[in-house]
Amino acid sequence: DAEDTLKPRPPVVTIMGHVDHGKTSLLDALRGTDVVRGEAGGITQHIGAYQIKTKGGDLITFLDTPGHEAFTEMRMRGANVTDIVILVVAADDGIMPQTIEAINHTKAAGVPMIVAITKSDKHEANPQKIRERLLEHEVIVEQMSGDVQDVEVSAKTGAGLDELIEKILLQAELMELKANPDRAAEATVIEAKLDKGKGPLATVLITRGTLKVGDILVVGTHSGRVRAMLDDKGRQIKAAPPSLPVEVLGIGGVPMAGDTLTVVESEARAREVAAFRQERATAKRTTTAPT
Ligand code: GTP
Ligand code: NA
Ligand code: MG
Repeated sequence: DAEDTLKPRPPVVTIMGHVDHGKTSLLDALRGTDVVRGEAGGITQHIGAYQIKTKGGDLITFLDTPGHEAFTEMRMRGANVTDIVILVVAADDGIMPQTIEAINHTKAAGVPMIVAITKSDKHEANPQKIRERLLEHEVIVEQMSGDVQDVEVSAKTGAGLDELIEKILLQAELMELKANPDRAAEATVIEAKLDKGKGPLATVLITRGTLKVGDILVVGTHSGRVRAMLDDKGRQIKAAPPSLPVEVLGIGGVPMAGDTLTVVESEARAREVAAFRQERATAKRTTTAPT
């Protein structure tokens, strides 16, 4: 897109960290709602995708990741759409294997990181020790004279949440994130499933353009037409701008996390592209199948 068509868009922030370090609780606290209580055993079943409006009116999109998920799958789901990673480290537990995995992954993707030291309300919390241990993984936080922003937070008491939001907005401002909203939409699939009543459902994040009800689309090996869209609060919306996560109804099958959704001009074209991709996928399976 030409420079003059680009408009500011909200940052997409992915929350990563070790199992049970408080990713979903933090996200939940940031939303001011209570999703985690409804989760079976407090385990994240799916990636969550939400957009919040801050006190100052700024929008931030958050993607949750489950701590037990395989590294590669996490990358597929979130990484190519992530602007900023929040590395969650529980102050009472410290640096753990998936913390290190998240650090390596973030560095490899070249995405800026903000360290959120969570569960700071716990009496066994030792945030200074975490800052020191992070040095071993070449993450040098501000308090250690580095340039990685860090903040102590508690999802339980709400401490540090405003500061975390400020740091996200500061980082986002430096990045000058932009997209052209006035073009045919492109989006990335965050998660997808088959719903008994509604059919295939895909949660997508708009990367450019605006997705509208009635748009004809191709996503992975499937074609379709946007029948309805729901935002993260379950409200029906007619148009989805860049950085908004939405649930799309009307796709002909269940796409895969990481698939790109593209809007095309006609149903004939959509079916043609989908058929071509299906053939290619079948050919690949045939040629790589053991004989
Ligand atoms: P997975 O998605 O399963 O990896 O877990 P998670 O990182 O999303 O952690 P989750 O939010 O499910 O929290 C794990 C446990 O830590 C829960 O029992 C929470 O109540 C608790 N917890 C999370 N944040 C805080 C906090 O700030 N303070 C205290 N005291 N407990 C917390
Ligand atoms: Na958990
Ligand atoms: Mg979780």
